[in-house]
Amino acid sequence: MRVLLIGRGGRENALAWKLSQSSRLEKLFVAPGNPGTAEFGENISLIESEPQALLDFARQREIDLTVVGPEAPLAAGIVDLFQEQNLKIFGPQQRAARLESSKTFAKQLMQKYDIPTAGYQSFTDPEKALDYIKDRGAPLVVKADGLAAGKGVTVAETTAEAVAAVEKIMIEEKFGRAGEKIVVEEYLSGQEATILAFCDGRSIKPMLPSRDHKPVYDGGKGPNTGGMGAYAPAPLVGEDLQQKIENTIISPTLKALQAEGIDFKGIIYFGLMITGDQAKVLEYNVRFGDPEAQVVLPLLETDLIDIFEAVLEEKLSGEEISWSSNKAVCVIMASGGYPGEYKTGYPITGLEKLTQQQDTIIFQAGTEEREGEIFTAGGRVLGVTALGDRFQETRDRAYSAVAGINFQGSHHRTDIAERPGKDI
Ligand code: AMP
Ligand code: GLY
Repeated sequence: MRVLLIGRGGRENALAWKLSQSSRLEKLFVAPGNPGTAEFGENISLIESEPQALLDFARQREIDLTVVGPEAPLAAGIVDLFQEQNLKIFGPQQRAARLESSKTFAKQLMQKYDIPTAGYQSFTDPEKALDYIKDRGAPLVVKADGLAAGKGVTVAETTAEAVAAVEKIMIEEKFGRAGEKIVVEEYLSGQEATILAFCDGRSIKPMLPSRDHKPVYDGGKGPNTGGMGAYAPAPLVGEDLQQKIENTIISPTLKALQAEGIDFKGIIYFGLMITGDQAKVLEYNVRFGDPEAQVVLPLLETDLIDIFEAVLEEKLSGEEISWSSNKAVCVIMASGGYPGEYKTGYPITGLEKLTQQQDTIIFQAGTEEREGEIFTAGGRVLGVTALGDRFQETRDRAYSAVAGINFQGSHHRTDIAERPGKDI
């Protein structure tokens, strides 16, 4: 099978790594990919925001299956475009992608179908939002309605922070049109977990639960990022809680989509807040999480192409999906200043000796290659994933690999998987 993978981050490096293990893969192209994906396929210089060019490529090069990694092309309708031309593509249509591309849409759906989530109000008028915030008082959570690369959310501990967030989103227009509308949410306390699920529109199958670490600094301090590290499986989600989440959140979400006439084929990402034995939805996404993909995919034993095909053919319910009993820990190494402003173009040293090891995988993200050398080229530069029997040894393995990689300004969290299930 000839596969075209769209995207360029750590998630796509993990997808390329996993797809390359499929006995059914004949040839993999990645658009545009990164130096890490080039180990598993051929990078091509087409970008995510050029759906017509990607379609032309898929047709000319006889691609059997296109896989979309990130949310932006899904929200822009790339799946609809490919399907109109009878080309096979994995991911939800534009209408279904609204689950992620409009927080208001997601909130309304949850409210209508009694799916547990934080109370909220949506606003298009900043004055009304500010009045509401002053009236309610902190803590509150302020979210840009549209896509903002994981950075459009402010957890405000004070009213002043919430006011500043509204100003940043609606007045300074930091996230452009994604901030024309905002959601102001009730603050939820507890522990977070992510459950990714394969969905074919008729049935839905959860993957192993994982845990992301969004704030930039240790102890959950500092602004939110796209994710600074992850581990799986998340011990917080035991059997009972998993069942409860399936009954109160995962199945009801599929039923809600069906009732709205939305045929969802792809990945649904459930971002959850667990308080005691209760789970609420923080957010939905419509693709693999990043860095979650970098810990969940290495534990997946089943052929990913088989699963993608089962989804497209609505045969997911008959597909056996099996998982390794290992643990996986991923530490993200980021550019100095990320998630704020940062410089790029610094050489990265220490990658070569790690690529040989079986239980440590380097997934590249914001990197580029120049004359055989790898340089930094983005905020999240790479993810170091280690695999092992127990969290402690796996975490040590990940951090010892991190210690061997260097680039100017590099920073990472030092507390990923320190106390799995009891993180701060
Ligand atoms: P989101 O992109 O909506 O998942 O938000 C990003 C992060 O902000 C989440 O992973 C949480 O850490 C935090 N967050 C979002 N909503 C809430 C909430 N209602 N209460 C507390 N924290 C939240
Ligand atoms: N790690 C969070 C996300 O992928 O949205």
